[in-house]
Amino acid sequence: LTVADAAAKTVTKTLPDAQTVTSVTHWTDSLFSFRVTRPASLRFRSGEFVMIGLPGDNGKPILRAYSIASPNWDDELEFYSIKVPDGPLTSKLQHIKEGDEIILRPKPVGTLVLDALLPGKRLWFLATGTGFAPFASLMRDPETYERYEQVVMMHTCRTAEELTYGRELIENLRHDPLLGELYGEDFANRLLYYPTTTREDSPRMGRITDNMTSGKVFQDLSLPPMSPETDRAMICGSLAFNVDVKSVLEGFGLNEGANSDPKEFVVEKAFVGEGV
Ligand code: FAD
Ligand code: A2P
Repeated sequence: LTVADAAAKTVTKTLPDAQTVTSVTHWTDSLFSFRVTRPASLRFRSGEFVMIGLPGDNGKPILRAYSIASPNWDDELEFYSIKVPDGPLTSKLQHIKEGDEIILRPKPVGTLVLDALLPGKRLWFLATGTGFAPFASLMRDPETYERYEQVVMMHTCRTAEELTYGRELIENLRHDPLLGELYGEDFANRLLYYPTTTREDSPRMGRITDNMTSGKVFQDLSLPPMSPETDRAMICGSLAFNVDVKSVLEGFGLNEGANSDPKEFVVEKAFVGEGV
């Protein structure tokens, strides 16, 4: 940007806390991702969320919590979003285009951060639907691989196409120049991916809870069952999912931690409500 361009950009900023959309990708009828400019002053820990939104019809902003899907070293911010047909925010947000502005309150918070977990050998990311977003950030942060030998991403959706954003992101990550430079060809073994569907046939099926309690995921990935000595986990899905996974992890002897009291796993809601 030239100084004149930058000045022009500043002038065109009309919303408080405005950021400019730099790209939008629609993955399915109900899922899209987008990237926006990052405020120079915004520092966050990979895995945290912020409030974003658009002005409502009465001019009052409609703000919602969104996990930042990009890692903390990225120049831009990425978000991965549902489209709720009658949702106050997403019925409008789904129409954003490159060059549009969104509101972004630069106050990141959240429990899905590396500091909320004790050191260990293996870190499990357990997500359904858009609960993948905070892990899209954490799995692209080299700090994750500094702290853990192995990362396992379990992501479950109803249909195979709903897995596409995550699948492509992980495929690209395996060829990421920065991580490749740091970890070489061995990187594929450091980030294991276990996608499943529950309402459409696909190579791997079943709920995360069932694949853990039956031992299938451990068998398929040639890993030992989870133990509090070696395994750490982060959970992000609907309330029902979070409650059920929490009890499975407790069954393996893991305990829930927090920023102020790091333990073996942490939980965050991917959305409020019973789901669509
Ligand atoms: P709302 O009135 O907010 O929601 C209407 C109904 O839609 C809800 O009651 C629920 O049943 C359903 N719903 C809402 N969001 C989802 C979802 N993500 N998946 C499935 N069903 C949903 N949403 C994202 O798309 N991406 C994120 O990264 C994200 N991060 C979040 C982080 C936190 C901590 C929380 C609490 C929520 C997060 N959400 C995320 C949900 C988000 O805040 C909004 O609910 C969502 O954008 C829909 O907004 P809305 O105004 O259109 O509808
Ligand atoms: P299922 O199809 O068996 O309900 P939803 O679209 O309802 O939010 O669900 C997203 C994914 O999460 C689906 O694959 C769904 O499986 C799964 N899921 C929903 N609730 C739970 C739960 N309590 N425990 C484990 N998986 C769940």
